[in-house]
Amino acid sequence: QELKFNLEQIEKGGYEHFMLKEIYEQPHAIKDTYRGRLLAKDGIVRMAGVENHKEKFLNANRIIIVACGTSWHAGLVAEYIFEDLARIPVEVEYASEFRYRNPVISDKDVVIAISQSGETADTLAAIKLAKEHGAFVFGVCNVVGSSIARETDAGAYTHAGPEIGVASTKAFTTQITVLTLIALKLAKEKGAISNSDFHYHLEQLELIPDKVARALESDKHIKAVAETYKDASNCLYLGRGYNFPVALEGALKLKEISYIHAEGYPAAEMKHGPIALIDEQMPVFVIATKKGHYEKVVSNIQEIKSRKGKIIAIVTEGDVDVKKLADHTIEVPETLESLSPLLTTIPLQLLSYHIAVMLNKNVDQPRNLAKSVTVE
Ligand code: AGP
Repeated sequence: QELKFNLEQIEKGGYEHFMLKEIYEQPHAIKDTYRGRLLAKDGIVRMAGVENHKEKFLNANRIIIVACGTSWHAGLVAEYIFEDLARIPVEVEYASEFRYRNPVISDKDVVIAISQSGETADTLAAIKLAKEHGAFVFGVCNVVGSSIARETDAGAYTHAGPEIGVASTKAFTTQITVLTLIALKLAKEKGAISNSDFHYHLEQLELIPDKVARALESDKHIKAVAETYKDASNCLYLGRGYNFPVALEGALKLKEISYIHAEGYPAAEMKHGPIALIDEQMPVFVIATKKGHYEKVVSNIQEIKSRKGKIIAIVTEGDVDVKKLADHTIEVPETLESLSPLLTTIPLQLLSYHIAVMLNKNVDQPRNLAKSVTVE
């Protein structure tokens, strides 16, 4: 028993839980994922799986992304990136819905399947259905040789290393990294992005690991915020644009490891119902980074404050306006709006981790959950 305990300690690299280790591994994991692919100085994105099937991507009617859970959230971020930068129509589908709803699929469609484990039954079934209809299927997986990696026509691995914690963290940020590289490569190929914007995006992506490391330095402050809100029974997560999927992901993290009910929403949707939920018992986590519709998010925050909601805002370093309104702010370094999900997700991962630990939950193996849902 002693030996087993020590082995686990070594595997956890001195961290109390695998999830915390994996949150802290993200600077390294993102660098491993873009190594050899992101050649910022030469202005090149190298990705054989895309290069060998370039025509498929460039002539596609649309890209259909199929995934589950956190991987689905990464797909939603990709929708914003692909449409905004590469001007390619994207639809993001829950694999479990896609496989049964008799979807319209043609051989002009490119399907991107995202899966950390590469064994998720619903995602695998969605891939098979897409292939039956002649679509080209590209996989983004973290496990080499997994079923999904073998079933897809081509793909790109995230090089996040083994992700043991059931709550996905570094898989999410490395999936977004791969998808961003693909979107930038296609945007360049299509001439949808100027040379200078392309180079600038590459340079800014190259800086992300150091900025993630800087975001992790707020851990102590985030733990104090977690202490304040660990006894909430319901939480709301709000984001706009690229950070709407991050609000969904933040809510999922809290739900699955602390068992507190949480809901992610597009910030502007508040007035279409959810604002009725707001009272002083309801913590509202708002992603209010400088670039994305900032003024509108500030007015959303004011609406919540006037209903006595508690505001915890994720802001860009040096923010002043939101700081005056929010009960708590957590800073992340400035970056391009299209890259901001890679940073804004960090405090939300740490918040849910600390709340779950304070509530004595089994952080790495939450109740009722499996690391890979290999059954329907
Ligand atoms: C996320 O934290 C969960 N562990 C779960 O939603 C997971 O993302 C989902 O089951 C998909 O898993 P996959 O990426 O291995 O396909």
